Amino acid sequence: MRAGIVGMGRYLPEKIVTNQDLEKIMDTTDEWIRTRTGIEERRIAADDVNTSDMAFAAAQKAIQDAGITAEEIDLILVATVTPDSPFPSVACRIQERLGAKKAAAMDVSAACAGFMYGIITAKQFIESEDYKYVLVVGVEKLSKITDWNDRNTAVLFGDAAGAAIIGPVSENRGILSFELGADGTGAKHLYQDEYIIMNGREVFKFAVRQMGESCVHVLEKAGLTKEDVDFLIPHQANIRIMEASRQRLELPEEKMSKTVNKYGNTSSASIPISLVEELEAGKIKDDDLIVMVGFGGGLTWGAIAMRWGK
Ligand code: UT7
Repeated sequence: MRAGIVGMGRYLPEKIVTNQDLEKIMDTTDEWIRTRTGIEERRIAADDVNTSDMAFAAAQKAIQDAGITAEEIDLILVATVTPDSPFPSVACRIQERLGAKKAAAMDVSAACAGFMYGIITAKQFIESEDYKYVLVVGVEKLSKITDWNDRNTAVLFGDAAGAAIIGPVSENRGILSFELGADGTGAKHLYQDEYIIMNGREVFKFAVRQMGESCVHVLEKAGLTKEDVDFLIPHQANIRIMEASRQRLELPEEKMSKTVNKYGNTSSASIPISLVEELEAGKIKDDDLIVMVGFGGGLTWGAIAMRWGK
């Protein structure tokens, strides 16, 4: 028996901040942001909308999409580096609001790779048959730890939430292989002091190398080749990093999800919100081979090869 994604949902804040809006408040240009990152606009959550509010909204949709009730959820894993407060966890906050009475709940801290870490943790509980349904949420309110005076980082990030219900799926579908990794020696390149501090060039080099390698590794582990891939969902940090992964897999442009232009880098939310976008656009079909790959502060990384469908 294999675990897979049986339902999905997302929440995007209404407020759109364009590159032109940023030109007015800092020394930057739309041209620089677009050509260096691919970002055109991002969503920023209202002051009174916290991380758990976004997580709750996305989770409700995922539960509905899966056709289950909150009472059936055994475990809630929330991948975030921007919890409402260090404790209680965002997972506990939404457990109460969802009415997921029997669910155990905890947050996962793996930065932009958090959703990959969450899904793979969920998979272990399901395939061991200890649990049936796990809610995994990737959510960030990065705007609250962004230094709006630092143009090196402020132009990159956005707020959002994406959620998935992980459960047992039919034969030949679900998670075929994965890779998770960490390299704490790179912690100095991307961390939070009061605000996000980043050595962009170092993270860029790491990301290009790691994303490509992880994609190749998960295909090898699943006994598949580049030709088998139907769709690539890379972490949406920078179009140039994403393009490097796409080229490594020799995929045509239309087989890679690109939402970074509309939502910026939403860290752990970027992969699930992109998945929902592609599902709604009808670009992912049952039995398609999907590769998801993320990297982030830690440094951390994770990739999954999955045969889509319940
Ligand atoms: O989820 C993981 C999170 N992090 C990432 O994925 C980040 C990975 N890194 C990157 O995406 C890129 O390194 C950046 C987009 C952050 C920067 O792009 P870059 O091509 O590596 O630029 P750079 O840092 O080498 O900076 C080039 C120039 C600098 O000016 P000088 O020193 O050459 O005169 C910067 O000061 O661009 C300048 N610059 C800006 N100019 C206008 C940096 N930020 C901006 C800005 N607007 N917002």
